[in-house]
Amino acid sequence: MNQPTPPRLLTIAGSDSGGGAGIQADLKTFAAHGVFGMTAVTAVTAQNTVSVEAVHTVPSAFVTAQIEAVLDDIGADVVKIGMLGNTETIRVVANALRSRPRIPVVLDPVMVAKSGDRLLETEAVSALEEHLMPLADLVTPNIPEAEILAHSVPGELTADGLIDELISRGARGVLLKGGHAEGKEVVDVLRVSGKSSVFRHPRVATTSTHGTGCTLSAAIAARLAKGDDAVTAVSGAIGYLQRALEQSFVLGAGHGPVNHLARGAE
Ligand SMILES: Nc1ncnc2c1ncn2[C@@H]1O[C@H](COP(=O)(O)OP(=O)(O)OP(=O)(O)O)[C@@H](O)[C@H]1O
Ligand SMILES: [Mg+2]
Repeated sequence: MNQPTPPRLLTIAGSDSGGGAGIQADLKTFAAHGVFGMTAVTAVTAQNTVSVEAVHTVPSAFVTAQIEAVLDDIGADVVKIGMLGNTETIRVVANALRSRPRIPVVLDPVMVAKSGDRLLETEAVSALEEHLMPLADLVTPNIPEAEILAHSVPGELTADGLIDELISRGARGVLLKGGHAEGKEVVDVLRVSGKSSVFRHPRVATTSTHGTGCTLSAAIAARLAKGDDAVTAVSGAIGYLQRALEQSFVLGAGHGPVNHLARGAE
């Protein structure tokens, strides 16, 4: 018998062979939220909990083909964008999204993996600013990414200062993630429609932090697709990630994954 159609989510991102981040984290997070996940793979990485060993970039025409195949038939209620890798991929993703009716976009401006390996060519940052930031309803940089997008030097601007700068550069909404700051609490700051919300939560003492950024933006996208407003979606997604960190397990010798199917997760 036909069941009600669930919200449809498209993630445009890289594959993490280690299963903790990228497309794999997105699909697990979507499934945990009961939404239907679809993918356009931009790069295939040979990666584990320790490092990114190799990156195979998917030709940009094939990225377009995946997006068009999905959107022409199935459609999407929200698009989540993660690792893009280079300028050409950024251009084709922006073109594909621009050429059809507007779909809400959550943009995770992935630049560097938790292992320290680069996932976006340095010269592609300006293409991200020019072509994709204006299409995004919410941009979710970590602190180093926000500093690069704000054209500021590390430590120069406060969280509010960084967000002001990104908004003045065309971002519609910003979630500044505080995972990289020090302290017993992690502080994430959201700005949408001129209003700031501050989310403070205990820092979980764990090395299982691979893919926290991917998981968080995927959970926000899933919750937006289910009808949450931005503040509710971000607050719920932070709660989901907190449980996934608290109930994580040891895997590999480096930064292991979070537990996407943690109890209490939805
Ligand atoms: N140890 C921790 N305990 C609790 N929350 C955390 C911890 N580390 C990160 N987070 C949360 O995870 C989310 C992602 O933040 P982070 O700054 O780590 O993003 P990121 O650098 O993009 O992650 P990634 O390396 O996966 O790309 C934020 O909501 C942050 O508060
Ligand atoms: Mg990240």
